[in-house]
Amino acid sequence: MIEQIRGLEDAYEAHAFNKFPIAIMRGKGSLVWDSEGKEYIDLMSGIGVALVGHCNDSVIEAVREQSGKLLTCHGSYYNDARAGFVERLVKAAPRGLGKALLTNTGTESVEAAIKLARRHTSRKKVVAMKGAFHGKTYGALSATWSKKYRDPFGPLLDGFGFAEYGDARSLESMVDGDTAAVIAEPVQGESGVVVPPEGYLKEVREICDRNGTLLILDEIQSGLGRTGKMWASEHWGVVPDIMTVSKGLGGGLPIGAALATDEVAGSLKGGEHTSTFAGNPLSCAAGSATLDYIAKNDLPSRAKEKGDVLKAGLSKVASAHRLVKEVRGLGLMLALQTRVDIHSMLLSAQAKGVITAYSGRDTFRFLPPLVIEDAQMARGLEVVDGVIGEAEAGRF
Ligand SMILES: Cc1ncc(COP(=O)(O)O)c(C=O)c1O
Repeated sequence: MIEQIRGLEDAYEAHAFNKFPIAIMRGKGSLVWDSEGKEYIDLMSGIGVALVGHCNDSVIEAVREQSGKLLTCHGSYYNDARAGFVERLVKAAPRGLGKALLTNTGTESVEAAIKLARRHTSRKKVVAMKGAFHGKTYGALSATWSKKYRDPFGPLLDGFGFAEYGDARSLESMVDGDTAAVIAEPVQGESGVVVPPEGYLKEVREICDRNGTLLILDEIQSGLGRTGKMWASEHWGVVPDIMTVSKGLGGGLPIGAALATDEVAGSLKGGEHTSTFAGNPLSCAAGSATLDYIAKNDLPSRAKEKGDVLKAGLSKVASAHRLVKEVRGLGLMLALQTRVDIHSMLLSAQAKGVITAYSGRDTFRFLPPLVIEDAQMARGLEVVDGVIGEAEAGRF
């Protein structure tokens, strides 16, 4: 069956993704099954999307109910599912972020954040971070560091610069009275789970305040409990002016938001930034079920407990293999960096029934569902340990 599915996608879908030769057909919790019925432990969860687990029962129930009522409702009309969702989202957000500008994806949430910042400050400059990843549409791409994503598509937006991530002095030298916003991930994801030094985010906040510059924190990957707190910025007690969120927010359905203070959100006039599908009832119903599930099951605390176990296990793997360079991360947002290309190791792990994400060529990235069971993490660790051992023994 894989051959047929693969044949059709390869023939008719534009080559946007580099794909593994597996067709995933079903999922439940932290498990997925492929077209041949093979089971996998999913330590990647669609790069952090299946945060409450694949096919979470509460999300399925909410989607089932909403799909029998209304699937689409333009934002120019009120809707009960949307009303319930924005109330929950704003109540779960850091204090002061009183308004949600709804979107459909991560990159759109960043677009919305950049537009809000420019609109509110009437300034053009944006300072992003080296190593940052914010998405692949033009605004978000202009704040994304990797040359691989940027260079084929220039010219990008004017006015964007990059400071050293984790170095407040570098940022200070780039921010002035013309800077609309500083944008940063509280923990960098795509570049390999980079946790900034203690005190850094607070200094970033202060630099923004001194210059009348807005602070945008991108919590698209790090938010919703993943790092052991509802928002990663809570680890350092920092509240942004604008915060982006997406990925796990819809329990698997596409939805995102730029959350902002009333004052910042209020600078936008009706009609200036809208989108046909933004705030659609189906994604909103799924989003409400997801937020309720996170709160009811205290997923941030579970991510901290489980993350500590997974990190300790990865550190043990690291100490057993000279190929491993470093283990890092917070909660269930973890990385294990090696000294070699890990592509063959990823394939070998898949053959043994474990799916992991990666960052660059040399780093395993772990973003499992926050509901992962201990035995599943233990098996995942065993397989990762095994494939690194195979690589060390020169078996690839
Ligand atoms: C921190 C961060 N921002 C933005 C994005 C872009 O999100 P999307 O792929 O939904 O456009 C991602 C995606 O990985 C991300 O990790």
